Amino acid sequence: MTERFRPGEVWLDTDGKPIQAHGGGVLYQEGTYYWFGENRASDPDAGRSWRGHGIGVRCYSSKDLHHWKDEGLALPPAKDDPTSDLHPSRVVERPKVILNENTRAYVMWMHIDSPDYKAARVGVARSGSPTGPYEYLGSFRPNDADSRDMIVFKDDDGAAYLFHASEWNETMYIARLSDDYLSTTGEYAREFIGESREAPAVFRYQGHYFCITSGCSGWAPNVAEYAVAESIMGPWEVHGNPCVGTTEEIETTFHSQSTFVLPVQGREGAYIFMADRWKPKDLGDSRYVWLPLEISGRSLSLRWRDEWNLSVFD
Ligand code: DGJ
Repeated sequence: MTERFRPGEVWLDTDGKPIQAHGGGVLYQEGTYYWFGENRASDPDAGRSWRGHGIGVRCYSSKDLHHWKDEGLALPPAKDDPTSDLHPSRVVERPKVILNENTRAYVMWMHIDSPDYKAARVGVARSGSPTGPYEYLGSFRPNDADSRDMIVFKDDDGAAYLFHASEWNETMYIARLSDDYLSTTGEYAREFIGESREAPAVFRYQGHYFCITSGCSGWAPNVAEYAVAESIMGPWEVHGNPCVGTTEEIETTFHSQSTFVLPVQGREGAYIFMADRWKPKDLGDSRYVWLPLEISGRSLSLRWRDEWNLSVFD
């Protein structure tokens, strides 16, 4: 059977269970893709119902982007420690992993928060293996700034950056990471000032940097926007909504919210837009919307497809 991506439908892992990798991101390493995301499955052991936050970060592996093997909890919850950032009562969102070529450490960054989202911090964890277990190193406010939705992006020269919604979500900060990727350096830029953008998904193609974001409307979908820059610290030029389709599709980003842009290995210009179709009343049943990005110079377009596979990039 020819494999297909079916955006918005239940996506099962190789054990036949729904994939739990919400707000996720993908790392590629030596022939294998690793998909990390929020585990929001109903988990009686975690002591929380399906509405619970912070029930860990799950990892899946795949060679072909279609078949995903559950590698378990890369960062498990701290069920017995109410003071821990990783206690099931807390918020752990949007985990992203990058490999540091010098230290050979896999470094995970994530949004850490209190249930009322007022703590607004980033957490960092580290492992010697992509699937973990990751050692949690703690959380902080990067450059003393509040931090909610975020992503880490590793550039071609090995420098890495944290994009995080700050100033209570009004402005996006781009903070350079230290050489070991475990902290920020103090160098940062403020972009999209006062524009209230979140859910950043960043990638680079043909020398241009692209950043796709959503607006801020909780779990409800809204209008996507993308921006382009020649230097990662800016200036970033806002280009508008990449979505092409019906008014409803355009205004809701196909009922989804950006989380990552995945470069398909070995295929020039092949990038997959990864997004979440949140189900606020049953977050564990939130769906994944993966769509191929069409890139032309500094322009991006996204179109709905009921089903598709990598041959669209041929
Ligand atoms: C929107 C964010 O993008 C999500 O990651 C999550 O934090 C929700 N807000 C919570 O309302």
